[in-house]
Amino acid sequence: MTQPPPNSQFDRYAVMGNPIAHSKSPLIHQAFAQQTGQPLHYEALLVSKEIGEFAKAVQTFQDQGGKGLNITIPFKSRAWELADHCGQRVQRAGAVNTLWFDEQGQRIGDNTDGLGLTTDLLKNHAAQIQGQRLLILGAGGAVRGVLEPLLIEQPALCVIANRTVSKAQELAELFGSFGAVSACGYEALAGQQFDLIINGTAASLQGELPPLPNNLFANGGWAYDMMYGSGLTLFLQWAIHQGTARALDGLGMLVEQAAATFYLWRGVKPETQSVIQQLRQQLRSPPRQPRFSAHLPTEVNGPRLPEPTRYGDWEKNGRCIDF
Ligand SMILES: NC(=O)c1ccc[n+]([C@@H]2O[C@H](COP(=O)([O-])OP(=O)(O)OC[C@H]3O[C@@H](n4cnc5c(N)ncnc54)[C@H](OP(=O)(O)O)[C@@H]3O)[C@@H](O)[C@H]2O)c1
Repeated sequence: MTQPPPNSQFDRYAVMGNPIAHSKSPLIHQAFAQQTGQPLHYEALLVSKEIGEFAKAVQTFQDQGGKGLNITIPFKSRAWELADHCGQRVQRAGAVNTLWFDEQGQRIGDNTDGLGLTTDLLKNHAAQIQGQRLLILGAGGAVRGVLEPLLIEQPALCVIANRTVSKAQELAELFGSFGAVSACGYEALAGQQFDLIINGTAASLQGELPPLPNNLFANGGWAYDMMYGSGLTLFLQWAIHQGTARALDGLGMLVEQAAATFYLWRGVKPETQSVIQQLRQQLRSPPRQPRFSAHLPTEVNGPRLPEPTRYGDWEKNGRCIDF
């Protein structure tokens, strides 16, 4: 763990995860701090996945005077266990992405992933959730955090599909009182259609794709990948190939959840659009070819895949890609 910044007037914050090198959270929070004049320092900390190491890292950070933490993959459930206080929504989710310490040293936990996702979908992209058929892929920490805020928007139905079906079933039971929620494995999705498919698996992070059947998108159906990167994620490439009307990545969610966290920590609401644009610009440059055929497994569902294409070609073909 690195030492606190030399200037003690700066409050210290960090994101902990494994892997962490890809994280844009330090850039985002430094941009918010500059924009709002808040004196803080924010860094990314890689924490070992060994049992007990995360708890030790949080304790050390707190002992060194740290004020608050973002928690990312794979520690959100462990962060929830370490929190002394969190609200009902967070208790139900069992996943914490935001921690801070009060004056008595108590650890307060919250989860801003859901607000980040719904703000990005509803406000930034004018998406419709109410009355829509929703499919969520994955049942890990991120999905646990977003389910309740999504269900509050009253989709017609919500199917949770996961590699380990029992985890999806657990979530369907836990959140069943919020609406028509069901669970299944990927193969059981065959023959169903959805208006919005959200990828909340970590598969894209590993350059993989869940084994999804063809024809899952209803006419005009949207695709959203919580993951983001310098090129189209595998899930978004698959979705475009399957004819999605709109392909969105999770950069907006990332910035919006960070803004919600910043508000919890500092009591100030930062402006998000300029930060999303700034990050998008950074991710886009230098311009690159999407890694379409290089990484997509050949046995992925169905027809042969197109040759690598420039991003602009997708747009010329009449598809809107907010990427
Ligand atoms: N944009 C944002 O602000 C934001 C916020 C939060 C998370 N995220 C992204 O969301 C993703 C999930 O994060 P998390 O915290 O939920 O991780 P997590 O708790 O480790 O859960 C991982 C999930 O992905 C599934 N999975 C992993 N590898 C897979 C594969 N090769 N094929 C199919 N399924 C696979 C797991 O299935 P099993 O249960 O079967 O293992 C599980 O459902 C990550 O990519 C993360 O970067 C983005």
